[in-house]
Amino acid sequence: MKKILVIGSNGQIGTDLLSKLREIYTPEQVWASDIRVPQSDEHHFIHLDATDYESVKSALIKLEIDEVYLMAAILSGNAEKMPNKAWDINMKVLFNALELAKDGFIKKLFWPSSIAVFGPHTPRINTPQYTIMDPNTVYGISKLAGERWIEYYKNRYHIDVRSVRYPGVISWKTMPGGGTTDYAVEIFHEALLKGRYTSFLEKHTALPMMYMPDAIDATIRIMEAPVEKLRIHSSYNIAGITFTPEELANAIKAYLPEFEIDYQTDFRQAIAESWPESIDDRMAFKDWHWHHKYDLDAMVKDMLDNLSQKYHMAVSLSM
Ligand code: SER
Repeated sequence: MKKILVIGSNGQIGTDLLSKLREIYTPEQVWASDIRVPQSDEHHFIHLDATDYESVKSALIKLEIDEVYLMAAILSGNAEKMPNKAWDINMKVLFNALELAKDGFIKKLFWPSSIAVFGPHTPRINTPQYTIMDPNTVYGISKLAGERWIEYYKNRYHIDVRSVRYPGVISWKTMPGGGTTDYAVEIFHEALLKGRYTSFLEKHTALPMMYMPDAIDATIRIMEAPVEKLRIHSSYNIAGITFTPEELANAIKAYLPEFEIDYQTDFRQAIAESWPESIDDRMAFKDWHWHHKYDLDAMVKDMLDNLSQKYHMAVSLSM
């Protein structure tokens, strides 16, 4: 029976990934780890600083781990506030895992890349798998460098490492930690709690987004795919929904008619403008049959349903 470790299990994607893996596998098979200790009592949790090679190595040995999902990273917005530190952390956690895979301590590794690998000269509509990549954020540079390194380790040392380029991921369980697409999560909380939201992105800024169940499906699907089907050893484009802050606000207004939005952009506007609007993910479909399921309305409805329950509020979700 294989054993899995999620590194960064308290983060936005880590939280949902962990619950899904625990539905699929037995509790003994799935271990969680994070640099932050969870608030509630957590079984099969190990406190781990993923930048510390020796700690990661001893956890892998002690828990007899086969597969690792490496979800620890500093996201785009936060990385711009501390460029050197973000580069250092993002690269160190990746290199530790690659070295441990090379030495046989990890049999299969998932490492997420991002739409942030693209830049101002990348075609923005239906961005192809192979295209100009000139990221101008620290986060994007670290992800593009990471993509080159995972492919290098695969070719040179024959490790099994798999990756997708996540768009902005929307979810209700855990808040995202300092990204450019965070507005699309914050907006739901504020719509329910305050009836209004000030967006830090301008109303017409379209970005590629995805609802969490689709992001988790892509993650697990690529990890379960037969290795010989995978033709891309850097990172696969995956597409979901594209919308602007204004379009998202209108979709929320369909259920909460009183909701109001205004706009006050900050430094993240420039980051968003350097990223694609939509993604061509035909390679992921061809190689491991991936396709997103949630459209804008299904995502909005499910977000409002879950968050209104979390906040003990009654919201009518029939239109
Ligand atoms: N959601 C991420 C960010 O905004 C993109 O990978 O940084």
